[in-house]
Amino acid sequence: MPYYRRVGEIPRKRHTQFRQPDGTLYAEELMGQEGFSSDSSLLYHQHLPTGIVASEVYQPPAWSRIPNHPLKPRHFKTHKLDAPGSDPILGRQHLLANDDCRISYAVSDQPSALYRNAIGDECLYLEAGEATIESTFGKLDVTSGDYIIIPTSVIYRIIPQGTIRTLVVEATGHIGPPKRYLSVRGQFLEHAPYSERDIRGPAEPMLETGGDVEVHVQHRRGWTRFTYAHHPFDVVGWDGCLYPWAFSIHDFEPLTGRVHQPPPAHQTFEGPNFVMCSFVPRKVDYHPLAIPVPYNHHNVDSDEVLFYTGGNYEARKGSGIELGSISLHPSGFTHGPQPGAPEAAIGVEFFDELAVMVDTFRPLDLCEPALECEDTGYAWTWARRQLDTGSISEVDPSTG
Ligand SMILES: [Fe+2]
Repeated sequence: MPYYRRVGEIPRKRHTQFRQPDGTLYAEELMGQEGFSSDSSLLYHQHLPTGIVASEVYQPPAWSRIPNHPLKPRHFKTHKLDAPGSDPILGRQHLLANDDCRISYAVSDQPSALYRNAIGDECLYLEAGEATIESTFGKLDVTSGDYIIIPTSVIYRIIPQGTIRTLVVEATGHIGPPKRYLSVRGQFLEHAPYSERDIRGPAEPMLETGGDVEVHVQHRRGWTRFTYAHHPFDVVGWDGCLYPWAFSIHDFEPLTGRVHQPPPAHQTFEGPNFVMCSFVPRKVDYHPLAIPVPYNHHNVDSDEVLFYTGGNYEARKGSGIELGSISLHPSGFTHGPQPGAPEAAIGVEFFDELAVMVDTFRPLDLCEPALECEDTGYAWTWARRQLDTGSISEVDPSTG
């Protein structure tokens, strides 16, 4: 989706002779979506992007998918999954999945392998740390609070500076801003909560030398490890509307109202059969009789995932939900604020919170790492049945 971008050296006319200093032709590559009918970019390689010398099966760690049955709301504490030293891509720990998307978490301090996801776009949310995303399109520096969209089949790797924490949404199609934020030609409209000025892309090409370079490819039939004759980061220039891009959650401008605004007011991205929303620090409802927390609600067509990534949760110490927590409120279950939260919120003018939501339109299964970090008492907390055990969980009152 993002707007047209041009980086490095490209010929004045597409599909024409563009020669290297030694007189040989650069190898032109079109990378495009939906056949030749959607966004694309043209890249100019020093070597053929088709030059592979080996293709082998790669077997990643296997995670089973377990249905959320019997049906329960869930709470996972991702910070229990710390695994420093792992690869930020191949070391992802899968939490929730359906046939449209998969949600994972990674704690990493090592450079990743070179990787291509040929199944769909990825949305990374950098919870903590700093990193560089290196790809055939160049370098992109990212920091905590950044969303990074990696289009399908872009070859990339992640270079952490220290330890990073990432929440990952892998789609089976394309992820981008909601269509209602865009003009018919793709420009952000005035009512959109972010705009072109908030989007960052690679600014310079990156050129790596060397041969026999391995790239791990996730595709629709499994994982394959290609060995390329030449390093795939050999692009001297490119232009187009398809490239990795970043957007900081801190640049999301929240929309507020006299009464409670539902999650679509906070929507940030849409993907195939899911949406993503950002809950950011904001003034809250200002009707004289407003109740700033949400009403109990049952969005009957969605499983709702909320990742708590910032804000003042000290006041809830020991209550269950904490930084790094993920709640899953599935369709078939009515959820809402904790008992007493509506009364407590009356008169509050500002919520200091930061959360990422993923609403999927088909049920999510549970993967093994999620069960390893589950707070199993969460389901009963609205009934206050476990107050005496000290394990009662308190859902963030503003997002519910
Ligand atoms: Fe909700």
